Amino acid sequence: MRPSASRSRPSTEERSLQSRERELVRQYDDLVRAYEATIEGWVRALDLRDGQTEGHSRRVADLTVRLAEAAGICGAQLGHLRRGALLHDVGKMGLPDGILLKPGPLTVEEQAVMQRHPEYAFQMLRHIDYLRPALDIPYSHHERWDGLGYPRGLKGDEIPLAARLFAVVDVWDALRNDRSYRGALPAGQVVDEIRAGSGSQFDPAAVRAFLALLEREPELVER
Ligand SMILES: [Fe+2]
Repeated sequence: MRPSASRSRPSTEERSLQSRERELVRQYDDLVRAYEATIEGWVRALDLRDGQTEGHSRRVADLTVRLAEAAGICGAQLGHLRRGALLHDVGKMGLPDGILLKPGPLTVEEQAVMQRHPEYAFQMLRHIDYLRPALDIPYSHHERWDGLGYPRGLKGDEIPLAARLFAVVDVWDALRNDRSYRGALPAGQVVDEIRAGSGSQFDPAAVRAFLALLEREPELVER
Protein backbone atom coordinates (compact mmCIF):
# COMPACT_ATOMS: atom_id res chain seq x y z
CA MET A 1 0.00 0.00 0.00
CA ARG A 2 1.32 3.43 -0.93
CA PRO A 3 1.77 5.82 1.99
CA SER A 4 -0.57 8.76 1.89
CA ALA A 5 0.78 11.99 0.43
CA SER A 6 0.43 13.76 3.78
CA ARG A 7 2.60 11.13 5.53
CA SER A 8 5.34 10.86 2.85
CA ARG A 9 5.79 14.59 2.23
CA PRO A 10 6.40 16.79 5.26
CA SER A 11 4.78 20.17 5.12
CA THR A 12 6.86 23.31 4.65
CA GLU A 13 6.44 24.01 8.35
CA GLU A 14 7.69 20.51 9.30
CA ARG A 15 10.67 20.83 6.93
CA SER A 16 11.57 24.16 8.43
CA LEU A 17 11.34 22.71 11.96
CA GLN A 18 13.54 19.73 11.00
CA SER A 19 16.10 22.00 9.43
CA ARG A 20 16.14 24.23 12.53
CA GLU A 21 16.59 21.14 14.71
CA ARG A 22 19.56 19.93 12.60
CA GLU A 23 21.11 23.39 12.83
CA LEU A 24 20.74 23.43 16.63
CA VAL A 25 22.37 19.97 16.92
CA ARG A 26 25.23 21.16 14.67
CA GLN A 27 25.73 24.31 16.75
CA TYR A 28 25.72 22.25 19.97
CA ASP A 29 28.34 19.84 18.53
CA ASP A 30 30.49 22.82 17.46
CA LEU A 31 30.26 24.26 20.96
CA VAL A 32 31.25 20.98 22.61
CA ARG A 33 34.20 20.65 20.19
CA ALA A 34 35.28 24.23 20.99
CA TYR A 35 35.16 23.47 24.75
CA GLU A 36 37.21 20.31 24.32
CA ALA A 37 39.75 22.12 22.08
CA THR A 38 40.13 24.82 24.74
CA ILE A 39 40.88 22.22 27.41
CA GLU A 40 43.36 20.45 25.10
CA GLY A 41 45.04 23.83 24.56
CA TRP A 42 45.46 24.39 28.29
CA VAL A 43 46.83 20.87 28.77
CA ARG A 44 49.36 21.44 25.95
CA ALA A 45 50.33 24.81 27.44
CA LEU A 46 51.07 23.14 30.77
CA ASP A 47 53.00 20.33 29.04
CA LEU A 48 55.11 22.98 27.31
CA ARG A 49 55.89 24.71 30.61
CA ASP A 50 56.57 21.51 32.51
CA GLY A 51 58.18 18.93 30.18
CA GLN A 52 58.03 16.30 32.92
CA THR A 53 54.28 15.96 32.61
CA GLU A 54 54.38 15.18 28.87
CA GLY A 55 51.54 12.76 28.15
CA HIS A 56 50.80 12.27 31.86
CA SER A 57 47.55 14.28 31.83
CA ARG A 58 46.07 12.29 28.95
CA ARG A 59 47.08 8.92 30.37
CA VAL A 60 45.67 9.65 33.82
CA ALA A 61 42.45 11.01 32.29
CA ASP A 62 41.92 7.77 30.30
CA LEU A 63 42.69 5.52 33.25
CA THR A 64 40.63 7.54 35.74
CA VAL A 65 37.60 7.24 33.45
CA ARG A 66 38.06 3.45 33.30
CA LEU A 67 38.39 3.24 37.08
CA ALA A 68 35.36 5.50 37.57
CA GLU A 69 33.27 3.32 35.24
CA ALA A 70 34.34 0.27 37.26
CA ALA A 71 33.30 2.15 40.43
CA GLY A 72 29.81 2.74 38.98
CA ILE A 73 30.13 6.38 37.87
CA CYS A 74 28.27 6.96 34.61
CA GLY A 75 26.61 9.48 32.31
CA ALA A 76 27.56 13.16 32.36
CA GLN A 77 29.64 12.61 35.53
CA LEU A 78 32.23 10.73 33.44
CA GLY A 79 32.67 13.74 31.14
CA HIS A 80 33.19 16.08 34.11
CA LEU A 81 35.63 13.64 35.65
CA ARG A 82 37.62 13.30 32.42
CA ARG A 83 37.92 17.09 32.08
CA GLY A 84 38.93 17.35 35.73
CA ALA A 85 41.62 14.69 35.31
CA LEU A 86 43.00 16.38 32.16
CA LEU A 87 43.19 19.68 34.04
CA HIS A 88 44.32 18.25 37.40
CA ASP A 89 47.54 20.29 37.53
CA VAL A 90 46.30 23.34 35.60
CA GLY A 91 46.93 25.40 38.75
CA LYS A 92 50.68 24.89 38.20
CA MET A 93 50.41 27.55 35.49
CA GLY A 94 50.28 30.00 38.39
CA LEU A 95 53.63 28.85 39.84
CA PRO A 96 56.89 30.73 39.20
CA ASP A 97 59.41 28.97 36.89
CA GLY A 98 62.02 28.92 39.67
CA ILE A 99 59.81 26.49 41.61
CA LEU A 100 57.97 24.62 38.83
CA LEU A 101 61.18 23.87 36.90
CA LYS A 102 63.62 23.53 39.81
CA PRO A 103 65.71 20.39 39.17
CA GLY A 104 66.65 19.68 42.82
CA PRO A 105 64.45 19.19 45.89
CA LEU A 106 62.29 22.12 47.00
CA THR A 107 62.91 24.01 50.24
CA VAL A 108 60.12 24.09 52.84
CA GLU A 109 59.09 27.57 51.64
CA GLU A 110 59.10 26.46 47.99
CA GLN A 111 57.01 23.41 48.86
CA ALA A 112 54.45 25.71 50.45
CA VAL A 113 54.25 27.68 47.20
CA MET A 114 54.02 24.46 45.12
CA GLN A 115 51.16 23.29 47.33
CA ARG A 116 49.10 26.27 46.30
CA HIS A 117 48.46 24.82 42.83
CA PRO A 118 45.10 23.16 43.73
CA GLU A 119 43.90 26.49 45.11
CA TYR A 120 45.04 28.26 41.93
CA ALA A 121 43.10 25.68 39.88
CA PHE A 122 39.99 26.39 41.97
CA GLN A 123 40.37 30.12 41.39
CA MET A 124 40.91 29.61 37.64
CA LEU A 125 38.05 27.20 36.97
CA ARG A 126 35.26 28.14 39.36
CA HIS A 127 34.15 31.08 37.20
CA ILE A 128 33.72 28.87 34.12
CA ASP A 129 30.21 27.39 34.20
CA TYR A 130 30.91 24.26 32.17
CA LEU A 131 34.06 23.44 34.16
CA ARG A 132 32.67 24.03 37.65
CA PRO A 133 31.40 20.41 37.87
CA ALA A 134 34.91 19.26 36.87
CA LEU A 135 36.60 20.97 39.83
CA ASP A 136 36.71 17.99 42.21
CA ILE A 137 39.97 16.59 40.84
CA PRO A 138 41.95 19.84 40.25
CA TYR A 139 40.99 21.15 43.69
CA SER A 140 41.19 17.95 45.77
CA HIS A 141 43.74 15.60 44.13
CA HIS A 142 46.34 16.15 46.87
CA GLU A 143 43.97 15.49 49.77
CA ARG A 144 44.76 12.31 51.71
CA TRP A 145 42.39 9.73 53.20
CA ASP A 146 43.97 10.32 56.65
CA GLY A 147 43.36 14.08 56.47
CA LEU A 148 47.04 15.04 56.14
CA GLY A 149 46.81 16.29 52.55
CA TYR A 150 46.26 19.75 51.14
CA PRO A 151 44.85 22.35 50.47
CA ARG A 152 41.90 21.81 52.83
CA GLY A 153 43.00 18.80 54.89
CA LEU A 154 39.80 16.91 53.98
CA LYS A 155 39.51 13.43 55.48
CA GLY A 156 37.94 10.15 54.27
CA ASP A 157 34.57 10.57 52.56
CA GLU A 158 34.84 14.36 52.78
CA ILE A 159 37.17 14.07 49.78
CA PRO A 160 35.13 13.94 46.54
CA LEU A 161 35.04 10.40 45.09
CA ALA A 162 36.52 11.53 41.76
CA ALA A 163 39.58 12.91 43.57
CA ARG A 164 39.96 9.73 45.67
CA LEU A 165 39.98 7.57 42.52
CA PHE A 166 42.26 9.97 40.68
CA ALA A 167 44.84 10.03 43.51
CA VAL A 168 45.54 6.30 43.03
CA VAL A 169 45.80 6.60 39.23
CA ASP A 170 48.07 9.66 39.50
CA VAL A 171 50.61 7.84 41.66
CA TRP A 172 50.42 4.72 39.47
CA ASP A 173 51.17 6.72 36.32
CA ALA A 174 53.89 8.86 37.93
CA LEU A 175 55.80 5.83 39.24
CA ARG A 176 55.30 3.70 36.11
CA ASN A 177 56.91 6.36 33.88
CA ASP A 178 60.37 7.91 33.70
CA ARG A 179 61.07 11.13 35.51
CA SER A 180 64.20 13.29 35.12
CA TYR A 181 65.39 12.09 38.56
CA ARG A 182 64.53 8.34 38.25
CA GLY A 183 63.47 5.66 35.81
CA ALA A 184 60.05 3.98 35.65
CA LEU A 185 59.44 1.50 38.48
CA PRO A 186 58.31 -2.11 37.83
CA ALA A 187 54.55 -2.71 38.10
CA GLY A 188 54.90 -5.04 41.12
CA GLN A 189 56.79 -2.40 43.09
CA VAL A 190 54.21 0.28 42.24
CA VAL A 191 51.35 -2.03 43.28
CA ASP A 192 53.16 -2.61 46.62
CA GLU A 193 53.51 1.18 47.10
CA ILE A 194 49.82 1.73 46.40
CA ARG A 195 48.82 -1.09 48.76
CA ALA A 196 51.06 0.41 51.45
CA GLY A 197 49.25 3.74 51.06
CA SER A 198 45.76 2.22 51.43
CA GLY A 199 43.99 3.72 54.43
CA SER A 200 46.60 6.47 54.89
CA GLN A 201 47.20 8.23 51.58
CA PHE A 202 44.44 6.47 49.62
CA ASP A 203 40.80 5.46 50.07
CA PRO A 204 40.97 1.66 50.65
CA ALA A 205 37.92 1.15 48.39
CA ALA A 206 39.63 3.11 45.58
CA VAL A 207 42.76 0.96 45.97
CA ARG A 208 40.69 -2.26 45.86
CA ALA A 209 38.83 -1.06 42.75
CA PHE A 210 42.09 -0.07 41.05
CA LEU A 211 43.87 -3.36 41.78
CA ALA A 212 40.80 -5.30 40.60
CA LEU A 213 40.86 -3.27 37.37
CA LEU A 214 44.56 -4.13 36.82
CA GLU A 215 43.75 -7.78 37.40
CA ARG A 216 40.84 -7.74 34.95
CA GLU A 217 42.78 -5.82 32.33
CA PRO A 218 46.42 -6.97 32.39
CA GLU A 219 47.24 -4.85 29.30
CA LEU A 220 47.13 -1.81 31.61
CA VAL A 221 50.11 -3.26 33.48
CA GLU A 222 52.06 -4.12 30.33
CA ARG A 223 51.95 -0.58 28.93
FE1 LIG B 1 49.06 18.22 41.53
